[in-house]
Amino acid sequence: MPFRFATRAAGALAVVAAAAGLMGQYGGAPIWWEAGSNERMPFSSVFKNNAGDLLVYNAGGETTAGTHPFFTPLGSNGRGCITCHQLSNAMSVSTDRMQERWATTGGRDAVFDTIDGANCPDLPQRERASHSLLLERGVFRIDQHWPAAGVTPDFTIEVVRDPTGCNTSAKYGLHAATPTISVYRRPRITGNLKYLDAGAAFTADSRATTLEAQVLDAIQKHEQGAAIAPEDIKRIVDFEREIYVAQGRDETAGDLSTFGAPPLLGAWSLGRTKPDSSASGMMTVANWAGNKPSAETDFRRSVERGSVLFSTRTFAITETANLHRGNGRTPVEGTCATCHSERMTGANAQQPWMDIGTTSLPWSGDQKDLPLFKVTCAANAAPHPYLGRVIYTNDPGRALVTGKCADVGSLVMQQLRGLAARAPYFTGGSAKDLRAVIDFYDRRFRARYTEQEKQDLVNFMSVL
Ligand code: HEC
Ligand code: HEC
Repeated sequence: MPFRFATRAAGALAVVAAAAGLMGQYGGAPIWWEAGSNERMPFSSVFKNNAGDLLVYNAGGETTAGTHPFFTPLGSNGRGCITCHQLSNAMSVSTDRMQERWATTGGRDAVFDTIDGANCPDLPQRERASHSLLLERGVFRIDQHWPAAGVTPDFTIEVVRDPTGCNTSAKYGLHAATPTISVYRRPRITGNLKYLDAGAAFTADSRATTLEAQVLDAIQKHEQGAAIAPEDIKRIVDFEREIYVAQGRDETAGDLSTFGAPPLLGAWSLGRTKPDSSASGMMTVANWAGNKPSAETDFRRSVERGSVLFSTRTFAITETANLHRGNGRTPVEGTCATCHSERMTGANAQQPWMDIGTTSLPWSGDQKDLPLFKVTCAANAAPHPYLGRVIYTNDPGRALVTGKCADVGSLVMQQLRGLAARAPYFTGGSAKDLRAVIDFYDRRFRARYTEQEKQDLVNFMSVL
């Protein structure tokens, strides 16, 4: 596709969307996709969100959903990949959208399917309370056999609190015929994936190291299907590698995708720019604000400051296991970009998973609606670098795959694109908005941001 056309089209789209006040769509792509529909996914689509418009760019060209395996049910529960990786939510889902779907379908949408769209399959399915985690946190149940095949763990797990009933359930729990652990996690973006291939870590615990393996995992876990033809796996993966998502227009700052906008913002630049591992830090937004006194200029200045804070404002990174620097105990001086180091996505190809405490006490705080596990590490195991040998966690993360005490709570970081379209944040959906993310970091790393700095960081995050 000629990019000159694409760049001009992005500007035009944003203008049309703004002028016509279109309720979040352009190019005919629906806001909510049912699996198996006959819609077409156009070359580009625009969806409204609280901060402006999200742009989804389908570099492979128009896709006919009815005949594409990403969009069609591959198992027995009527879901396709599209069900939980929705265009309008930057190829994830948001709690706003989940609540809307619950209201309009009386909870009958396939997304609420018992297998993982309910807190536990053995709860009464018509009741809203049985789906509270998906509705309030945007998380799906991920069930993992324990211990994982071929792994001899160096710790034991006990269930301390089980608000969903699933970890103590005779059928699904830790003492079932096939011992299983249920954790609850946000869907991750199935776009911009070309950039994540370098890290080769998909899902929060990196149980999948290739996109092909991830397709099989998804079909088995979410769609209750068994088999898929190799050519369909290839079509799904090829498709995922051609999808680019980013915020395209900001309500106040204006267009993020045309000439004059910072070069690395917007989905078009993602499509054009090669993964660039030499550059460190997400990006710095500069020379954008201009001098004209206006709300637009003020907001752009704030974004510029936010981008600089992101990559230059240092704090002591303490108690972070599996960080690529340090030993997890001695503080390391760093910035947001020390961890979110890849330029186009903010992911970290060098060391994709680490533990910043979002799912373990004390930093996670008391997450009463999630299960709480007690992990006890063997006396001869390498202890967790800062939590020692007894750990309380909502999600052991990477340790569910490796069986290692030192990996408890380590999670593969998400990419930071399309954030405005897909609240809430963190693997367990524990930060309800971007401000809550920044507040977490302010507390966690004692960054002592001023009110203005917090707002600048939020504004920067909201245009990515
Ligand atoms: C029921 C909802 C649901 C369905 C259906 C679903 N996914 Fe997902 N997807 C998720 C969740 C939840 C995660 C995060 C899992 C985790 O972190 O353990 C995820 C993660 C992923 C990731 C990892 C992205 C990353 O950056 O780590 C990819 C790729 C993906 N899904 C592709 C697919 C494909 C392909 C299909 C269809 C075959 C599919 N998904 C169907 C919910 C779903
Ligand atoms: C020590 C490493 C580290 C530092 C420093 C760090 N992050 Fe993160 N970040 C992570 C990890 C790991 C996750 C994934 C946590 C989870 O999923 O629960 C994450 C997740 C996020 C998310 C959530 C993305 C999503 O899709 O849910 C945002 C937003 C974010 N970080 C922004 C920032 C900002 C802004 C800063 C600086 C104030 C920062 N991070 C500093 C490691 C770090």
